[in-house]
Amino acid sequence: MKLRMIAALAVTAALAAPATPVSTQAQPDLGTFAREGVVVSSSDIASDIGAAVLARGGTAVDAAVATAFAMAVTYPTAGNIGGGGFMIVRLPDGTATTFDFRERAPGKSTPTMYLDAQGNINRNLTAAGYLAPGVPGTVRGLAMAHSRFGKMPWRDLVMPAADLARNGFLVSRSLAGGLNREVAGPMKPFPGSVAAYGKPGGGQWAEGDTIVLGDLAKTLTAIATDGPDAFYTGWIADTIEKAMAANGGLITKADLAAYQAKERQPVRGTFLGYEIISMPPPSSGGTALLTMLNMLEALEIQKLPRLSAEAVHLTTEARRRAFLDRARFLGDPDFVEVPVARLISKAHATDLIKTIDPKRASSSVELGKDIVTVPGEESDETTHFSVADRNGMAVSLTYTLEGGYGAHLVIPGTGFLLNNEMGDFNKKPGTTNLTGDIGTPANLIAPGKRMLSSMTPVIVARGSRLVLVTGSPGGRTIINTSLDVVLGVTAWGLTGREAVDAPRMHHQWLPDRLSIEANGVSDDVQATLKALGHDVRVGGTQGSAQTIWVHPNTGAIYGVADRRSADAKASTPTTTPEAQSGAPSGVRR
Ligand code: GLY
Repeated sequence: MKLRMIAALAVTAALAAPATPVSTQAQPDLGTFAREGVVVSSSDIASDIGAAVLARGGTAVDAAVATAFAMAVTYPTAGNIGGGGFMIVRLPDGTATTFDFRERAPGKSTPTMYLDAQGNINRNLTAAGYLAPGVPGTVRGLAMAHSRFGKMPWRDLVMPAADLARNGFLVSRSLAGGLNREVAGPMKPFPGSVAAYGKPGGGQWAEGDTIVLGDLAKTLTAIATDGPDAFYTGWIADTIEKAMAANGGLITKADLAAYQAKERQPVRGTFLGYEIISMPPPSSGGTALLTMLNMLEALEIQKLPRLSAEAVHLTTEARRRAFLDRARFLGDPDFVEVPVARLISKAHATDLIKTIDPKRASSSVELGKDIVTVPGEESDETTHFSVADRNGMAVSLTYTLEGGYGAHLVIPGTGFLLNNEMGDFNKKPGTTNLTGDIGTPANLIAPGKRMLSSMTPVIVARGSRLVLVTGSPGGRTIINTSLDVVLGVTAWGLTGREAVDAPRMHHQWLPDRLSIEANGVSDDVQATLKALGHDVRVGGTQGSAQTIWVHPNTGAIYGVADRRSADAKASTPTTTPEAQSGAPSGVRR
């Protein structure tokens, strides 16, 4: 109820505000022009499959469903049917909704199930194998979104993925590397995984090999033909229950049958006159993003040079405080009272910024001393894609297996990887430490509960106009990657391409550390930040924000593939293999 009122206020404010002009310098590359809609994902083949659905008149949700199933085949590090995620849909009239298909804790789970006899977290149990997975939500979530906003038959959206698995597809260099590492390493203890993903006859996968996933084809065909019940109550559920029982796992057929996706009201707010639409709990992402943006609006961040020490200092302090709120308050709203309306209010931001010293980095421990218990993880594999159709429907979808290849576990006969999402719960009640373990009550394990997520799919609008669709993988860095892309476009007037290419930063309260992508800021800025007291680490890359951006002057839509992902592609109905040469989409040849 309260969220609805906030949403209404947000729309009114967005309509009243003036537009921020886009930067005027020459723009050689704005992304992929997309008059008839676009799918931007980390898998070129899956983007083509989604765009082919748009070409046949499918809605953005139809295309998102087809893309998600295709990525379960082509992008096993995070694409999935054995995991979960979140989808935001914005309709052409500006209304928006979200679908929550986050995994749930099995009925037999307990708050201390990952502690050893000494009371320490046994990270092996959340990393891999039969105790690591939550009850998957992806298939139910995609089916729910399809039943609300799909136009094409379900079967036509799932079968391209089944065909791809059955007929095979060409392995990219990055997929070959990932599979070789998996099969020789984390998958080794699980014969079903090695049988599914090992090279037939042995040896290493190489770029250009064809991989066939026969069991996955069978599973996807069953889902295409019989709908989501094939997964949750049919032979797939039987197979999961049997293997779980035989190997010390917890998921039962009753857990699967009880799984429900949920349609939830998005969290909505405003930033400099833009309307921000994102994911409510059980994601912490939308709430934290709005808390940060509210602080940065009050601090007039847009008036500072983008990569100056002052701007980086203030964005860091905003990140720190929103992540402390996350640790204190966020969890599954079906189990705990989460004060979302207060956390995303402008008044809360005003209170928070009173504690920011422009001349000194705050101490995370000092700020959160009420919950830090002892001086003392999160994986960064997830995937995000963005879709828009020619009628103005937009989808922002982030889904995950948690770690790369999830629990590394394929139950024999099913062909798909199970998640290791249980690790996103707070695993040691009462222990919050300097390394980032959190033990606060809101996100403790309970049967049927959804684990807290950082996934931050986001859609930005201005009045009736779509501005940006974005999101990212990256564990807790997800929230900051989404923030950086949104800030780039809204506060500093960057194009979508510039905002996606721009350096990203991360601070998550604890560990008390500011990470900046390699070459992100000058040496002088780094030195100033250190002098202010920040523990600055520079290097690596952060996230993969597959983005859609709408030119503020022309209204033209552009798909912006994030070059940080080797196989990313923005596909439009006119750039699919089908449109260009008659070859079916999904065959990389
Ligand atoms: N497993 C990543 C997330 O949900 O935030």
